[in-house]
Amino acid sequence: MTTTISVPGKLILMGEHAVVYGRPCLVTAVNPRMIVKAEILNESVFKLEAPDVNISQYQKSITDIGSGEIPKEAKFAEIALYNFSQKYKIEKGINIITQSDFSSNSGFGSSAATVVGVMKAVAESLSVKLTEKELFDLSYKTVVDVQGIGSGFDIAAAVYGGTIYFKNTGEVTESLTADGMNLVVGYSGIKADTVEMVKLVSVKKKNYSSGIEKIFDNISGLVDEAKRAISEKDWVRLGTLMNYNQNYLEDLGVSTDKLNLMIEAAQKTGAYGAKLSGAGGGDCMIALVAPKNRENVSQAIKRAGGEIIEVSVNAEGVKAENI
Ligand code: MEV
Repeated sequence: MTTTISVPGKLILMGEHAVVYGRPCLVTAVNPRMIVKAEILNESVFKLEAPDVNISQYQKSITDIGSGEIPKEAKFAEIALYNFSQKYKIEKGINIITQSDFSSNSGFGSSAATVVGVMKAVAESLSVKLTEKELFDLSYKTVVDVQGIGSGFDIAAAVYGGTIYFKNTGEVTESLTADGMNLVVGYSGIKADTVEMVKLVSVKKKNYSSGIEKIFDNISGLVDEAKRAISEKDWVRLGTLMNYNQNYLEDLGVSTDKLNLMIEAAQKTGAYGAKLSGAGGGDCMIALVAPKNRENVSQAIKRAGGEIIEVSVNAEGVKAENI
């Protein structure tokens, strides 16, 4: 029997980088989603197919998972399975297939979605009931085991869905009502390396500690105000706060000329606000718009060289699909 799980992607609305240092951020789960299928096997092997990252026919004995050589692209799935097996016995083999509707290049959180999807799919196929908190904790541990850093906001979006105020590696995850929030997403065409960008900021923080801490504190203040603006559906205010947040991201040195062009284009065509979304260095920018202005802003972003990616925000968290 095959278990099918679907996991949303994510977009960070505000607070990136500062969230790595204990400040809050705002994140929304988005469709498109990742689909993870799991099937229990009689032979004791772990098989993985992940066409998005060019993994086909990867397999190893269940007793060897988590050790030996693991291809970079298989790491998130294999370490998720390994961490699950450290808590719950896996006595049979398992075949896993992952496939996303979003490009793994655009910063929609494909690593987090893979980890949460694999963890949930394995649990469901073995009839293990994980609470959302347990799923978050095991998934977050997996991301840290694989990439060393990460605030966990992307895991929270994948697990809980919706729009979330997130802080302190998941100590605070507050669900917000954000219906009516309209985003245009522009992809810069450049794949960002999150770990590299986080390292770049950490070096700056080492060299200019008080200045960078001040930037993080200011971003934190903006995020708290933005949380209020979302609850009041004050999109004009939220947009302005996003613009301010973008200025601080430029101060941190994580924006790029291309992102700046796309962001300015959106701001000039009447978006309430626009900023990069994610680690910077590439990936996506987001613009908050009134529905009637969506087309204008999209065209302006395109003229600035961006590719528009259609998403729907406030998506549901991880769930089993009856396919
Ligand atoms: C990357 O999408 C967001 C960062 O804040 C990293 C993280 O929170 O894990 C830069």
